[in-house]
Amino acid sequence: MKITIVKDYDAMSDVATTDVVEVLKNVEKPVLGLATGSTPVGLYKNLVKLNEEKEIDFSKVSSVNLDEYVGLTENHDQSYRYFMNNHLFNHVNIDKANTYVPNGSTTDFAKATADYDQLLDSFGQVDLQVLGLGANGHIGFNEPAEELSLNTHVVELKPETIDANARFFASKDDVPKKAITMGIASIMKAKKIIVLVSGAAKAEVLNTFNNDLISTLVPCSLLKLHPNVHLIVDEAAATYLK
Ligand code: GLP
Repeated sequence: MKITIVKDYDAMSDVATTDVVEVLKNVEKPVLGLATGSTPVGLYKNLVKLNEEKEIDFSKVSSVNLDEYVGLTENHDQSYRYFMNNHLFNHVNIDKANTYVPNGSTTDFAKATADYDQLLDSFGQVDLQVLGLGANGHIGFNEPAEELSLNTHVVELKPETIDANARFFASKDDVPKKAITMGIASIMKAKKIIVLVSGAAKAEVLNTFNNDLISTLVPCSLLKLHPNVHLIVDEAAATYLK
């Protein structure tokens, strides 16, 4: 695992941008795995600017997002589809028909999860997966648990995740209790994974990268099994990182 420690959020976003640009410039039909949350917002801002400046081209890009809240429609301003449109897709020359986010507003989750796995299979391999981290170590919405699912599935959100994400909703009660998320195997299948980590709230969970253990109770520790991970951490998050 390559670890880069940088001064602050903007520097983290810049390093992440370099990794994404490298893929966009060198892969003919790039498939990007994308994440939501506040952490990758700076990266997406940079990509929009570079696209405006014609430095990078999204016309041949496809994207698959990690997760979506259960029960929110695409037009809900806290749905992850809305987030992606708002922060990236509406502002770059990507064909929206080639952008995919799990369907959280269906009533048939068996079909929605199977369809998403089929879609991921059809891409073969994601060229670059962008990841943020939950303070409890979750990746996508794969929450700490005795067992983790390999494939796309519906997950019950942990109280600490609901608390952390309540800041985006009018009240904590409005935060969905469930989400649909890519599984661990799908995430681990990517050619390269970049993990963006910023802020003191994420400092403790990074302890997992100081030892050689893995545990499903700290889902991000499974990233140690992947041969090509770039962990990009700002100083506030890197306090305990040796
Ligand atoms: C969210 C998302 C994750 C994200 C994480 C951290 O709940 N499901 O994909 O990485 O939690 O979010 P933030 O970047 O806002 O701290």
